[in-house]
Amino acid sequence: MNQITRLTGGVGDGPRERIVDSLVRQGFAIEPDYLSPSLIKALRREIRRRDARNEFTPAAVGRQDSLHHNALIRRDRTHWLDGSTLAQMRVFAELELLRTDINQALFLGLFDLEAHFALYPTGGFYRRHLDAFRGDNPRVVSVVIYLNSRWRPVHGGCLRIWPQRDAVTPLMDVAPRAGTLVCFLSELIPHEVLPSHAERLSIAGWFRRNEGPPL
Ligand code: OGA
Ligand code: MN
Repeated sequence: MNQITRLTGGVGDGPRERIVDSLVRQGFAIEPDYLSPSLIKALRREIRRRDARNEFTPAAVGRQDSLHHNALIRRDRTHWLDGSTLAQMRVFAELELLRTDINQALFLGLFDLEAHFALYPTGGFYRRHLDAFRGDNPRVVSVVIYLNSRWRPVHGGCLRIWPQRDAVTPLMDVAPRAGTLVCFLSELIPHEVLPSHAERLSIAGWFRRNEGPPL
C-alpha cells in the first residue's frame, strides 16, 4: 500500500481488499492462505473432537419452513459455530473484519454471520444450487473456508462455480486447499461441491441482512 492510499483510506492491496475488489468485479472471490496454518490446525482438531462426540448432524436442504434431508442433493454433516472455543472466536474476528470491509465498499447492509463446520465423508457432494433466492432469504454473501490438510487433485471435492443456473460449461473449479477462502453473492452464483474422494473439512458461513420485525 503506498502512502497516498494509506492517508486517504483508499483501496489497498491486502487480502480483504482483494476479496472486496473481486466481489465487486465478478460476484465472487477466491483468496488462498486466508487463515494461518495454526488456526486451521486448531479448527481441524475441533471438528475431529466434535465429530467423535457425535455433535455433527446430517445437513438439510430446502427453505427454513420445509427443511428436509435429501441424500440425492447433498451428503455432508454439519455443526453450527457458536463462538465457544478460541479457534471459533478467531474465525469470527477475521470474518467480522471482512463483513465491515464488504459493507463499506458495497453497501450491502450485512448485519451478522451464521456459520457451520461441514464434513463431507468420502463420496460426499452437494449438487448445483444457489444459497438464496431473491427476497425469501436473509443470506447475502456466502463464505467458505477450507480446512483439509494435504489436499491433492485425486481427492476431488472441488467447488464448481457456474455462470448461470442452467449453464453447461462451468466457470471454474476451486480446489478445497487448507486456508483458501471463497466468498460470493448468495443470490447470484450457482455452485456445487463435486464428489469428494477423501474426507473434506470446511467452514461455510453466510453474512445476512437484518430481517427486521415480522410483517
Ligand atoms: C454450501 C456450499 C460449498 C463448499 O454449504 O452451501 O455450497 O465448497 N458449500 O463447501
Ligand atoms: Mn452453497
